Parts: sequence; C-alpha cells; structure tokens
Amino acid sequence: MKNKVRMRTSLSEEIESLLNDQIKKEAKSSFLYLAMSAWCERQGFVNSARFFEIQSDEERQHMKRIFNHISSVGGNAITPEVVNIQQEFESFRSVFDIALDQEIAITLSISNIVDKCTLAKDYTTINFLNWFLTEQVEEEAIARRCLEIFDIVDHQGLGFLMIDREIALVRGKGSEQQQ
Ligand code: FEO
Repeated sequence: MKNKVRMRTSLSEEIESLLNDQIKKEAKSSFLYLAMSAWCERQGFVNSARFFEIQSDEERQHMKRIFNHISSVGGNAITPEVVNIQQEFESFRSVFDIALDQEIAITLSISNIVDKCTLAKDYTTINFLNWFLTEQVEEEAIARRCLEIFDIVDHQGLGFLMIDREIALVRGKGSEQQQ
C-alpha cells in the first residue's frame, strides 16, 4: 500500500493528474510515430521511416521527463496504458497531416496545463513546462515543413521519392530555424 500514500508535496492533485494525462499523451505520440515509421518502411519510404523513429524516441523522452518530474517533486507518476494506435494510413501525405495535428494538440494540451498552473499559482510546474512550450515551437515547425514539401513536389512516382529524400533533411533545417 505504500505506493498509494501521497507524499507531502506542493504539487496539487489537480496538477498531478494533468501531468499524468500529459505522460499518456506523450506516450501515445511516441507509439503513433512508431506506427507511422513502420507504415513508411512498408511503403519503401525509408527516410521518413527513420524520421518517425527518431520522433518516436523523442516523445518517449518527453514522457520520461514528465514522469521523472512528478516523482522528483513527491507526486505519484503513473505508467500509462496506451491503446488504439492507428496502424494504417490513407496516403503518404496523410501521415504527415496527422503528425502536425498531433503536435498542435500537444501544444494546446501543455498550454492548458500552464493555464491551470497559473490559476493555482504553481510556478514550479510552469517553470518545468516552459521547456516543453519551447520544444513544441520546433516540433510544429518541423511538421509544417514536411507538409510544405508535399505542396512543392509533385505527388506521384519520382515525386514521392524526392519528398522522402527531403524529409531526411527537415530535422536539421527545423533546428536551424530556431537558432
Ligand atoms: Fe512531446 Fe511533440 O510532443
């Protein structure tokens, strides 16, 4: 029963619960991107497969970052159960459309927690979440750039291969835009 006892902490149960929800959302992002990676691999888009594999690893790191934070401030971090991950996708482009929607949803979710923290005067958690807000600017920029490539290049035959080749370069360019 010891793990059910809540330690004395400045973290409110409401914020703890929102952070645990965020753990689950980051885990879901990680698994979704892994499924996207596998789908791209099956279609022969090896660079995009690698792109989503890296993205999946990053989301897992985000999940762990929140998990460790909850534990280090004396809260109860909950290992998430993640089900119903989309495995099949309508088209190459739709994968990137869904990825951008996912990033926007994550940004809004973190902003919502910051809103709640502001009301609760929980400046410790706001300080912790600022890193995520900065990260989301980059993640959305990368996802938008991927879709831009689809708009620029013809969506057929060799065009798909060009898109896949360009996707391999996006991560570096996305980071440069932030500097
Ligand atoms: Fe961790 Fe891209 O959201």
